Amino acid sequence: MHEVRGVVAGTKGARVSLETVLVPDPGPGEALVQVRACGVCHTDLHYREGGINDDFPFLLGHEAAGVVESVGRGVTDVVPGDYVILNWRAVCGQCRACLRGRPWYCFATHNATQRMTLADGTPLAPALGIGAFVEKTLVASGQCTKVDQRAPAHVAGLLGCGVMAGIGAAINTGNVGRGDSVAVIGCGGVGNGAIAGAVLAGARTVIGVDVDQRKLGWAKEFGATHTVDSSTTDPVEAIRELTGGHGADVVIEAVGRPETYAQAFYARDLAGTVVLVGVPTPDMRVELPMIEVFGRGGSLKSSWYGDCLPSRDFPMLIDLYLQGRLDLDRFVSETIGLDDIEEAFDKMHRGEVLRSVVVL
Ligand SMILES: NC(=O)c1ccc[n+]([C@@H]2O[C@H](COP(=O)([O-])OP(=O)(O)OC[C@H]3O[C@@H](n4cnc5c(N)ncnc54)[C@H](O)[C@@H]3O)[C@@H](O)[C@H]2O)c1
Ligand SMILES: [Zn+2]
Ligand SMILES: [Zn+2]
Repeated sequence: MHEVRGVVAGTKGARVSLETVLVPDPGPGEALVQVRACGVCHTDLHYREGGINDDFPFLLGHEAAGVVESVGRGVTDVVPGDYVILNWRAVCGQCRACLRGRPWYCFATHNATQRMTLADGTPLAPALGIGAFVEKTLVASGQCTKVDQRAPAHVAGLLGCGVMAGIGAAINTGNVGRGDSVAVIGCGGVGNGAIAGAVLAGARTVIGVDVDQRKLGWAKEFGATHTVDSSTTDPVEAIRELTGGHGADVVIEAVGRPETYAQAFYARDLAGTVVLVGVPTPDMRVELPMIEVFGRGGSLKSSWYGDCLPSRDFPMLIDLYLQGRLDLDRFVSETIGLDDIEEAFDKMHRGEVLRSVVVL
């Protein structure tokens, strides 16, 4: 058993606190990982607000890189000392999606079976089955993806969630290709990941849409060819104008709200694709004229984790980073300590950061 410090969301809406966390030694199929860095994702705030589910207390943090300290019986995919990015979709290899050769949709992804607890034995629910705002965490060994250790942890960890979700929304789910026009609504960590992904894939026009000028400035730095401030300009009209009057081939919604989803729906070209990567809350509803759903053709897709396959995508994207072709450093607005999560949530709310990253 390991006694470490971790960031816990105790009750709905309450401020997070730094608590003693007890982490068991890894059992069969599990790995104990020393966390080196973990980014603050909007989903952590969703957990704290009770927007994901009511399984409080949560151990927050899920966008992390670290080093494997020990592994349980039967683990052969990683060994102690491996430098890894943690993923929250360790594929099972046996469910109906995996058996059909589509493991990125795996319907039975793995997490550690033993629970981490508070000092009094209360079991913790780790955010997205990871829980990494903590010195050491326990995961399923398949949640550890080995990457080149020359990539520093505070940038490598970003691929563990938001940035991967964004890049993957463009290149995997949206299937963006050379010459496409792409619009991204919401230019936070995820949306700017989508912009970076669209640029990597060879998109010709890349339009960033946000209500915050600062985010639009960053979108330009990631390669957006145009930006639209949707607090003052109708984004649907603007996207149509920038694409010859037609709409974009692929529109990526990276906010998770009904009104921005509707904008994405109307801003795409005929036979175009809408990708929803923003996460809605259970109460949200969209209403669309069915004749438009039919008449516009194309596809309306959702993107879980950018439909990534960690074993395929993490090492590849880290290599592109090391070659200077994917600027992950630009996502890191600041590095902080485990004590600073609430402040990081406030900065996220005020739109001051793309990513605050806890470094341990
Ligand atoms: N699908 C997945 O696997 C996955 C993974 C990680 C995060 N997410 C989700 O993606 C979303 C974005 O996450 P993030 O970390 O980038 O958050 P973020 O807070 O950094 O970014 C959200 C952005 O949306 C902008 N925005 C807010 N309202 C808007 C509006 N009406 N029109 C245009 N822009 C608006 C904000 O200014 C901000 O720049 C969240 O819903 C998060 O839960 C999904
Ligand atoms: Zn599976
Ligand atoms: Zn996340």
